[in-house]
Amino acid sequence: MTDDDLYWKFSFGDARLAKDPLAAARRRADQLVSELNRHNRLYHLEDDPEISDAEYDRLMRELQDLEARHPVLLRPDSPSLRVGAPPAEGFREVRRVVPMLSLDNAMGAEEMRAFDERVRRELEVEAPVEYAAEPKLDGAGVELVYENGVLSVGATRGDGRVGEDVTANLRLCPSIPLALAPTPGRDARERVSVRGEVILPVARFEKLNQQRLERELAPFANPRNAAAGSLRQLHDIDTARLRALDFRAYTLGEGIPEDVDTQTQILETLAAWGFRVSNECEICRGVDAVIAYHERLLERRQQLPIEIDGTVAKLNRLDQQRELGSLARSPRWAIAFKFPPQQETTKVTDIQAQVGRTGALTPVAVLRPVRVGGVSVSHASLHNQDEIDRKDVRVGDTVVVQRAGDVIPQVVKVVRSKRPRGTKRYRLPERCPVCDSATIRLAGEAVTRCPNLDCPAQLKNNVRHLASRGALDIEGLGEKLVDQLVERGRIQRVSDVFRLDAGALSGLARMGEKSAANLMASLDRARETTFARFLIALGIREVGEGVADLIAQCFGDLEPLLAASQEDLEAVEGVGPTIAESVVRFFADERNLAEVKALAELGVRWPKTEPAPPGQGPLSGKTFVLTGGLAGLTRNRAKERIQGLGGKVVSTVSKKTDYVVAGADPGSKLEKAQRLKLEILDEAAFVALLSSHESAAA
Ligand code: IVH
Repeated sequence: MTDDDLYWKFSFGDARLAKDPLAAARRRADQLVSELNRHNRLYHLEDDPEISDAEYDRLMRELQDLEARHPVLLRPDSPSLRVGAPPAEGFREVRRVVPMLSLDNAMGAEEMRAFDERVRRELEVEAPVEYAAEPKLDGAGVELVYENGVLSVGATRGDGRVGEDVTANLRLCPSIPLALAPTPGRDARERVSVRGEVILPVARFEKLNQQRLERELAPFANPRNAAAGSLRQLHDIDTARLRALDFRAYTLGEGIPEDVDTQTQILETLAAWGFRVSNECEICRGVDAVIAYHERLLERRQQLPIEIDGTVAKLNRLDQQRELGSLARSPRWAIAFKFPPQQETTKVTDIQAQVGRTGALTPVAVLRPVRVGGVSVSHASLHNQDEIDRKDVRVGDTVVVQRAGDVIPQVVKVVRSKRPRGTKRYRLPERCPVCDSATIRLAGEAVTRCPNLDCPAQLKNNVRHLASRGALDIEGLGEKLVDQLVERGRIQRVSDVFRLDAGALSGLARMGEKSAANLMASLDRARETTFARFLIALGIREVGEGVADLIAQCFGDLEPLLAASQEDLEAVEGVGPTIAESVVRFFADERNLAEVKALAELGVRWPKTEPAPPGQGPLSGKTFVLTGGLAGLTRNRAKERIQGLGGKVVSTVSKKTDYVVAGADPGSKLEKAQRLKLEILDEAAFVALLSSHESAAA
């Protein structure tokens, strides 16, 4: 029985109520109204939803069903009649003539077909109708008003009629034109309102969250909350966050030009005026075409740079749209055909600490299995003690879990209102669950570790990592076999993998002569590798595939890498101070060096490559430190241009630094540069320096 069943049992099990179904329905409807109002407030005003969209949709559905069955229950303040929440205090109100509506949802192909049938019945057409299909962008809906072609007001959706004036913040979003491009033949009318979605592309969202974690701020649950939160900043406005936002236009409220008859033409007009519109829009003839479009979109969902949560299908002809009209909350000519939810609610049945390759203890929530985005989820990482403390996840809690792409499922948050009595805060164990060593947590580190380098859990995971596809790719050395080999003491350090022989393999479960011979052959194949794969196999922290490639290209072989200093490493494009430090520290450890040597002696080898020549050019030998934000070019672009001229970019200011480039809000690096009396360039001087050398070189 689910919690919901229980809920119904308690609210309807009462014999008195059972005799009066309307009273029971009213009680449930009242409850739904207050719950939905609370969730609306959390979502729209606090950018901090407590339940998943799927759960919200279910509650809303239930209320709509009750209201449809018992129209007397429809209260004038029912959330089913509104589209969001009234504006928060602090923002000026914007009242609109044409309300910004929400969309009704179709949860599957069947509901999409039912929508289509209703549309055709009301239009009295039998033939397939034409839909404009577009991705449903998962961001914050806004409306931009242009007067005489110039942006005058930008506002959030709010409750549809009244939104919040966030013009100043919106002006910083680079894809919002401050003035409409003149378009011969389709010039904008005096007053035009453009509607669309402010979104945060996934890559920028991940970067933002990484920065927030570094600054010990709570990460945003998803790009939509991050976008909405960025837009609604009131004090100490973080302009970089606003510049990272993107805007995609999808419709016009007021000011549709005379000769525009279809949604497709609206999009063309918007593009001509200078807006970005989704480049995934298609015309679909009939509902089958919409369903096919939806399936294609779903397949590509993970590859798209932005988050979408379904298809919006709109009747393409505006005259047909007008014929159908709108209800209080949503138009009758459009529908949001949603993807299966990527967030769901479930229960935590246990929390376990897993010991990883580096000895880090990762708390993992064991969940009552739930389907999220089409896959069953039964475990979710809780990352570390700080994350657990922040979210306060406890055994017995009901939590929202989400899956994004191939990423491990995450616990987004706890539904506090559903916490049972008597739960306790969770703390990572003081002893390693595998080897019983006392665990440690260093000051300033988020991670709790088992410090025992011989802990079987570390060894097992290191061996698995060495054998994995991206590393030495040892076919046949799977998890179960590694467990057995470590548990029987036949592997005591990672390099022992290449000491395995028929004798060491005999007597193991599922290891016949043939399998043993196969494993010997794959060990031989694995011995012939590349320097980059070897680096990955070592399991140096921070060194994944991309970084290993960069280091391998730059140094070509082990000896030059062993001789490299932190600065030398930092000079490699794409290698920052954290990575550099981790590499240097790894090779400074005697035990690691012994393992590296042993692997080479046991026949692991790779073709030597010529190290990339040191930068040549007018800036060769010069080192730069970049600090603060640059307005006209990105950090990476600046780095590329310096390197293109032969210069080096490092992260720490020292006596040896030649130039310190100070952008907006520079940090302590600028102070240090001033103390050391180094040459400091502002952005203009820096760009002038680059340009003068570049034009001389050209
Ligand atoms: S059309 C009345 N098109 O989804 C027409 N809306 O759940 C409504 N949305 O309020 C707008 N992508 O904020 C439209 N391609 C798209 C959309 C889209 C996302 C948002 C919009 C709307 C909400 C409804």
